Amino acid sequence: ALFFQSQSDFSGKKVLITMGPTQEAIDPVRFISNHSSGKMGLSIARSFAHRGAEVHIVSGPVSLDFSKDQLSVTRVHSANEMFDACQALHPQMDICVFAAAVADYAPAQVAWEKIKKDDSSLSLDLVKNVDIAKELGKVKGSRQLHIGFALETENEEQNAKAKLDKKNFDLIVLNSAKEEGAGFRHDTNKVRIFHKDGKEFNSDLLPKEQIAELILDQIKNIPVWV
Ligand code: CTP
Ligand code: CA
Repeated sequence: ALFFQSQSDFSGKKVLITMGPTQEAIDPVRFISNHSSGKMGLSIARSFAHRGAEVHIVSGPVSLDFSKDQLSVTRVHSANEMFDACQALHPQMDICVFAAAVADYAPAQVAWEKIKKDDSSLSLDLVKNVDIAKELGKVKGSRQLHIGFALETENEEQNAKAKLDKKNFDLIVLNSAKEEGAGFRHDTNKVRIFHKDGKEFNSDLLPKEQIAELILDQIKNIPVWV
């Protein structure tokens, strides 16, 4: 077979990509976060850039090198900061990829001073964070595409499809937490992709760069392009 890929099949398209974890402050020196590396998000960003798109990244704290590619990067810490940056960019975007592992909860109050330990246990009051994908899904225009991610450990297909509906995604990428060599902290990944119209695609275990190319190919299949 001949694999010919146009180098500019996304030229002229403006793409927003959220990636990385968020950090939710507890006090001046502590935070709540998660293990997201941002690698999958960056692979997708690079694929879009190589295929001609204008890429805007909004990233939580990650240790990745953004300098090699033509990427506009806004660095944020908290879910609220990520939401503000995304809201400002969203109206101009053609495609939004929500690859960030946004913390679901944040401390109800941030202590002004470092919390001192004493002899008792400590409880933190947590409040729910803004759901960035869901809120922007409510204002999604008819020519905008929204792509979501899901990491599940049980009822994977059902949970992923529920998120597809709830957040107004056109397509959702399901990472299996049970898959050996996939997900957080790995350079490889294995995904299932569910389209809004019911179409489904399953990948092999592949390097994240190749998974990114497959995701872009799936995005290109969405009928808004015709
Ligand atoms: N997401 C988001 N803002 C949040 C939480 C999630 O934008 N506050 C986005 C993620 O970037 C991802 C999708 O929503 O594209 C699904 O995230 P996930 O954490 O799997 O779903 P939740 O709705 O948070 O549900 P739960 O964690 O309970 O499974
Ligand atoms: Ca979550």
